[in-house]
This record gives sequence, C-alpha cells and structure tokens, in this order.
Amino acid sequence: MLRFHNKHASFEKRNKLIADRLPHRNSWVLDVGSNTGFTTKYLGELGHFAIGVEKMQEEFNAARKIQGDTSAFMRVGVSPAFFENSPQWSAILLLSVLHRIYAFDGEEVMRSVLSECGRKTDTLFIEGSTRHARYKDQGQPAPDFTEHDVEAAAAWHEALFASVLGEDWTVEAKDVLEHTRKEPHRILYHLCKKKA
Ligand SMILES: C[S@@+](CC[C@H](N)C(=O)[O-])C[C@H]1O[C@@H](n2cnc3c(N)ncnc32)[C@H](O)[C@@H]1O
Repeated sequence: MLRFHNKHASFEKRNKLIADRLPHRNSWVLDVGSNTGFTTKYLGELGHFAIGVEKMQEEFNAARKIQGDTSAFMRVGVSPAFFENSPQWSAILLLSVLHRIYAFDGEEVMRSVLSECGRKTDTLFIEGSTRHARYKDQGQPAPDFTEHDVEAAAAWHEALFASVLGEDWTVEAKDVLEHTRKEPHRILYHLCKKKA
C-alpha cells in the first residue's frame, strides 16, 4: 500500500499552503486520489467539508479509519464520467494524481479529467511531477520535458492548463516544493477561474 504522506518531504507545508488559499471558510473540497486520507482529514479539521475519492481499496480502507466529522471518503476511480453530474466544488485538489491518471489511463483521459474539473470549480490545486517514471511506468510515453528540470516541467504543465482549461484560467501561485531523493522537486499550482 502506498502511504504517500510519509514519502513527501513537504507534505505538511504543501497542505498548509492549500489551506491558506482555499476561497472561503466552510469550503467544499474534492480531493481526487486521496490516498490514505491525510489531506482530506486535515482540511476537515480546519472546518471545511472535504470529500476524498480514491481508487485503491487498501488506501481507501486506511482513509476511512481516520475520517473526521467533516471529512468523508468514497472508493472510486475518477474518470470524466464521475464529474458529469457532480455538484460544484469550492476547490478541487489534483495532488500527485494527474500524472498517475496519465500513466494508467493515458494522456487523453488525464486531459478530460482536468477539463471536467475546470467545469466543476473555480479553484484548482495541482501538484505536478517532474519525474518521468511517474508518467511512463505503465507503458505510456514520457512527457515532453527534460526530467527533473523544474522550469521545463513547469512550462509543460502551464501549456497543458492553457490548452485544456483555456483563457478563463490563471495561475495564481506556483510553489516549488522539496519532494524525495529520487525526485528533488515538485510543483504546486494554484489556479483560479477569472471572474466574469
Ligand atoms: C501519489 S498518490 C497522491 C496522494 C494524495 N493526492 C497526495 O498528494 O497527498 C496518488 C493516489 O491517487 C490514486 N489514484 C490514481 N488514479 C486515480 C483515479 N483515477 N481516481 C482516484 N484515485 C486515483 C492512487 O491510488 C494514489 O492513492
């Protein structure tokens, strides 16, 4: 079972950055790929209403054990269909998960999931990987940026956001975070839909 919170050198710092930037108190947050539930639970403890969705049974079981009063979990593999009739969310978190959707389901599914998220919220938090293995370990081609090159990975991600989400969205903040020995840095994006 993957216990992602133990591997990530900036896990708590990242989650605090997100909490500080949620659009309002009592936010309704969807945490896609919630793993063992720590981020979802943390946001719930701050008074938000947080739902984690996780496709793996063991990780989901672990998450349910730490569920709080205002956090909850579903075991579901998120696809574009998941979002079709979903409610609107104050924020959607895609933390270290878009590249796993790319790895398991392909680039087109990843792009469609991102597009659907853009329809269902005005606030996105996305943690992107700079390590090729996270994209290609299931047989998909490597993404078109130089591995571990933060600037190149950032340019690739920002081109993805612009092409999928369109001109209505801006990158509000971009934080480079320490990650692991094998992948020194990750990028956390805070994206917002421009007000009409
Ligand atoms: C690398 S972990 C990141 C965990 C967490 N989002 C974080 O950053 O702290 C990715 C998690 O996303 C889950 N996952 C991958 N694809 C998914 C999908 N399509 N729907 C739901 N969960 C998914 C994996 O099982 C794994 O637990």
